[in-house]
Amino acid sequence: MDDPTLKKRQAIIDHCLLMNSSGLNQGTSGNISIRHDDGMLISPTSIPYSDLTPDKIASVHLDGRAEGPIAPSSEWRFHRDVFVARPEVNAIVHAHPTYCTVLAIHGREIPSVHYMMAIFGGPNVRCAPYAIYGSQDLSDHAVTALEDRHACLLEHHGSIALGRDIAQAYWRAEELETLARQYHGALMLGDPPLLSNRQIQDVIDKIADYGLSDEDTK
Ligand code: 13P
Repeated sequence: MDDPTLKKRQAIIDHCLLMNSSGLNQGTSGNISIRHDDGMLISPTSIPYSDLTPDKIASVHLDGRAEGPIAPSSEWRFHRDVFVARPEVNAIVHAHPTYCTVLAIHGREIPSVHYMMAIFGGPNVRCAPYAIYGSQDLSDHAVTALEDRHACLLEHHGSIALGRDIAQAYWRAEELETLARQYHGALMLGDPPLLSNRQIQDVIDKIADYGLSDEDTK
């Protein structure tokens, strides 16, 4: 295994462990992938993250052929389909964060309650309609909900966040959970006022050079 491949495999493990230790995710829920060669490297299915070693990370080609000692994540289809649909995306974080999932249980999208909405590319984060985990239907719904966006919710399920690299995808996954928590709190006080599409676009234009954000937030 060459050094860049090993680094990607280790980065998947590190971020799987981080998403559980940070409270963003729990158990064997969620999965993480990084674009690689003509496909991706992805966390294997149903293995406790603390048991992962680089050789256990699965490799999946765009045609769905998988290699590795353990089957790839059951969600390899939406990871694959996002990589095909979105050439600028190089890493994907799927998790079951509590506040994202609370909203997704209600099938609610997140509207523009905070200017940080801009890091997701537009005035809302959509909620993809429910389909059973691992299905092509779920993948189709997710790809549609992610159009012109860097994240979405999955009804009765969780969240997906995209990035040009794993650091950016993970950052967006955490920011999305914060936004979901803020929106949930704001709903407690009534119907929250929203920023306009113009106000969100102004932030998108301004935030491009901010930290982990970049041109592809546009
Ligand atoms: P995997 O263990 O197969 O990745 O499944 C976890 C999950 O969250 C499915 O949506």
